[in-house]
Amino acid sequence: MSFRVQPAAPARPNRCQLFGPGSRPAIFEKMAASEADVINLDLEDSVAPDDKAEARKNIIAATHDIDWGNKYLSVRINGLDTPYWYQDVVEVLENASERIDQIMIPKVGSAADVYAVDALVTAVEAAKNRAKPISLEVIIETAAGIAHVEDIAASSPRLQAMSLGAADFAASMGMQTTGIGGTQENYYMHREGQKYWSDPWHWAQTAIVAACRTHGILPVDGPFGDFSDDDGFRAQARRSATLGMVGKWAIHPKQVAIANEVFTPSDEAVAEAREILAAMEEAQRTGAGAAVYKGRLVDIASVRQAEVIVRQAEMISGS
Ligand code: COA
Ligand code: MG
Repeated sequence: MSFRVQPAAPARPNRCQLFGPGSRPAIFEKMAASEADVINLDLEDSVAPDDKAEARKNIIAATHDIDWGNKYLSVRINGLDTPYWYQDVVEVLENASERIDQIMIPKVGSAADVYAVDALVTAVEAAKNRAKPISLEVIIETAAGIAHVEDIAASSPRLQAMSLGAADFAASMGMQTTGIGGTQENYYMHREGQKYWSDPWHWAQTAIVAACRTHGILPVDGPFGDFSDDDGFRAQARRSATLGMVGKWAIHPKQVAIANEVFTPSDEAVAEAREILAAMEEAQRTGAGAAVYKGRLVDIASVRQAEVIVRQAEMISGS
């Protein structure tokens, strides 16, 4: 193992990020009343070009007028390939209340993209004497983004989270699908007359998790477009959780409860993790490096695995 200790990711729950268009202020109160850990008010793709200016005003007002409780409040700006992004940053940060926590940068393709936004955020913070440092989150949703994912994860001390954006990612990669996340009809193995569906997002997800874990960033799964398909959402979320991601976006309020359920370690999982820790403590007392738990080997690596689950559960329950 490298002598460098892997940095811990920010210790805040990020099980569900609920999105809503900045141009639809009628749903802001409902978003604030939801069970999502993170709120993403959008200025990008869910807002039509003619509505961008109004959406900025709505979002600024919402930081003053709405009680967001203890939610982490993020604003998604437009991409650096648009004429909108600098005004998104400057107008929002010059006028928003201290309640805003984070800026989300879409379609990040290089560490320099994050550097540019960081520089602008730093200047506005200083000019306006903002007390609370704004954090950043990015979306990996282009071929360049995934090719440079590790550099991007290391790009700024402000960076806290990184999401996979399945739809734009698929488009940028030239993938032949219009589905936003989940099982894709044509991605299957075939054997003896049976189809076995595989997971086309797996590689990008694991690349993101590895980059994030190397640099102490929260890895997050992005949108699942078919909000009528609860089982499909749950399956995608469970795969993401198994791979090390900490949460998933909700693009409709009905997805929030499922994300919270999947990304909160279950009582059974926590109980089993605690039993493994106890079994290993007992083994170590007797000088053994390994033990048998329910007929399987547990050793010091099992302790690290069990600690991931216990720590996550404790952090979520606020202990
Ligand atoms: N957050 C909170 N509440 C929401 C919501 C959201 N994102 N989207 C809808 N609601 C509310 C509706 O106002 C409605 O409330 P009501 O029962 O009090 O009338 C209820 O949830 C059910 O909404 P529904 O009629 O099923 O959906 P809709 O047609 O109003 O909106 C979407 C559907 C997909 C257009 C909408 O959910 C949305 O804009 N999602 C976010 C899109 C986005 O931000 N995309 C960018 C990231 S990919
Ligand atoms: Mg996108």
